[in-house]
Amino acid sequence: MPHAFKDRIAAYTARVNAGLDAALPLATRNPQRLHDAMRYAVLNGGKRVRPLLVYAAGECLSVEPELLDTPAVAIELIHAFSLVHDDLPAMDDDDLRRGKPTVHKQYDEATAILAADALQPLAFLVLANVDGAPDGAAIELVRLITAACGSIGMTGGQSIDLAAEGTALSTDELEHMYALKTGALIHASIVSACFLSNNLPAGNAAALDRFGRSIGIAFQIKDDILDVEGETEVIGKPAGSDASLNKATYPALFGVAASRARCDELLAEALDDLSQIGASAAPLEWLARYIVERGQ
Ligand code: IPE
Ligand code: IPE
Ligand code: MG
Ligand code: MG
Ligand code: MG
Repeated sequence: MPHAFKDRIAAYTARVNAGLDAALPLATRNPQRLHDAMRYAVLNGGKRVRPLLVYAAGECLSVEPELLDTPAVAIELIHAFSLVHDDLPAMDDDDLRRGKPTVHKQYDEATAILAADALQPLAFLVLANVDGAPDGAAIELVRLITAACGSIGMTGGQSIDLAAEGTALSTDELEHMYALKTGALIHASIVSACFLSNNLPAGNAAALDRFGRSIGIAFQIKDDILDVEGETEVIGKPAGSDASLNKATYPALFGVAASRARCDELLAEALDDLSQIGASAAPLEWLARYIVERGQ
């Protein structure tokens, strides 16, 4: 690749935003309030880390961006749905997301629940419409992403997160929760590119699988550190939310220094996995470092 991945972020972000815009029903379509809320939930900013991981993994495996748009859009729709539910009064009860009122604050709780309900199947409609993928890839993507989204993935992790409030978990229990609630969709973002590759060395598939697991857990530990150390205006969500809910988080249970050390260890493991792939993994390396070093 002639240029650093960083230089392609704006183009990839524009690409996934165009795909999201096209997938979402127009706000003028009935029921307008629901469609407006769906668009607000998705098109209101966000770092687009999961789509960027899809495109970076695709670069690593020489998959065309036109094919990668499908999992990039589908996974971001599921992520957006998870954030709407995560912020509801019944869950984290947060009023700010991406620097703006959360969906239930901007609209109302029922609309937020329904908007998230509708974003989830929309993701699978996008996957069903994938065009030009290798034989069997569409159904493999559906299997991967349904598992990452459901009770053995993000939704299961959110259930464990809520049950763990006010309790002390072991590091293994905590990392299991992180692997589910956050790691599963991050891992799926990377592995989705594998299903779209026509000629994937088995060693690279295994290395990307391990890379996705490590970096997914690191992503959540960094999110927890930012909840402790970040400023609301910068992170775009209420700083200190975890402590006020007595959440079982890495910094709360083991301290910020240990959290940072674990993040660095997971990054080192992740980079070690990439080193087995070689130079084509440079975009993923850049994103892995960004995930643990980011300020928001
Ligand atoms: C926040 O995810 C929720 C977690 C899984 C920690 P992001 O930090 O990717 O949120 P956006 O999409 O950039 O707003
Ligand atoms: C969220 O974890 C995980 C999700 C699946 C949405 P958090 O509750 O820490 O995410 P934020 O900090 O509200 O974005
Ligand atoms: Mg939460
Ligand atoms: Mg939350
Ligand atoms: Mg958080």
